[in-house]
Amino acid sequence: MTKKESDIINCDHSAKPAIFEMQSHIEAIEKNAAFYEEKNFDKRIEIIDLIEFQIIDQIEELLRKTDQPDELTLLKYRAEKIKSELEEIDINLFQRLQAKIKTEGYTGKGFKNLINEYVDFNWDPNNYQEEIGYDNLDIFINGLSPFQTMPEQTKDLEPEMVYYQKTPARIVFELVEKVHFTKEDVFFDLGSGLGQVAILVNLLAGVTAKGIEFEPTFCDYAKACAAELNLSNVSFINVDARKADYSEGTVFFMFTPFKGEILQEVLAVLKKESLLRKIKIITYGPCTAQVALQSWLDFAAPKDDNIYKLGVFTSL
Ligand SMILES: C[S@@+](CC[C@H](N)C(=O)[O-])C[C@H]1O[C@@H](n2cnc3c(N)ncnc32)[C@H](O)[C@@H]1O
Repeated sequence: MTKKESDIINCDHSAKPAIFEMQSHIEAIEKNAAFYEEKNFDKRIEIIDLIEFQIIDQIEELLRKTDQPDELTLLKYRAEKIKSELEEIDINLFQRLQAKIKTEGYTGKGFKNLINEYVDFNWDPNNYQEEIGYDNLDIFINGLSPFQTMPEQTKDLEPEMVYYQKTPARIVFELVEKVHFTKEDVFFDLGSGLGQVAILVNLLAGVTAKGIEFEPTFCDYAKACAAELNLSNVSFINVDARKADYSEGTVFFMFTPFKGEILQEVLAVLKKESLLRKIKIITYGPCTAQVALQSWLDFAAPKDDNIYKLGVFTSL
């Protein structure tokens, strides 16, 4: 017997307990009606993750080592079937919620209540993370987006411009809690990427929200999302943040969209605006330290070295 043959036979024997354990997992999931109830989004996310990364991945690993694949192939088919049934529940859920937002105009409390129905989300001002991290709230908010494929970037960024990365949804919730928006406020996201921050701020606070984005395909994507959800008070402008018109803005958000000279130029533009009316600047990420050096701004949030804690600045 060659070494490879003996490995296969050993594997078929030693795999038995693992196969048995996976079979019982699959059976338990199939029988648990709670996973199939639409409202149990959180539970479903965890179980889809378990099926994908603990069951299917393990089956594939064992399949690579066996010459008797029948039992494992059948098990894999069962696991994939449950996974796609559970995913189908979420697809239908999100289609229904998108239609609700579009036709019934959920903003403010109504939108927060809608989220609370599905995601166990408690914003705790003392519970900060030391890094950018995404959670079930992000998966839920992503699901509400009418488009799921990220567009290709068409323009090269200048060295001081920062590539697209999404602000975690819980940070946008926190921003809305901290800003205490009034109806008159106009929110700007500088470097708005795919538009999620401006859209969420509009849905959570009901205020007019605008995004400024350098990359035209991102800007088109964000415009299409807002139009698809029927959000008439959300708009996106494809322009370099140094050249944008901020004359209506009262609250400006930056998830470090640029650094160095570009950041200084944009801050100089915002300083001019602050001479005409009081403004707030909210920062996230490394740009907070630079914004904190501006003598025309008051740092309202407690000083902290954690760059992934929102910076809240008010013009003097
Ligand atoms: C870190 S991402 C933040 C995206 C978005 N604000 C969010 O939080 O989901 C930075 C974004 O800024 C854009 N950007 C970089 N430099 C810019 C500039 N000078 N003017 C406008 N947008 C810029 C990038 O294309 C990118 O989409």
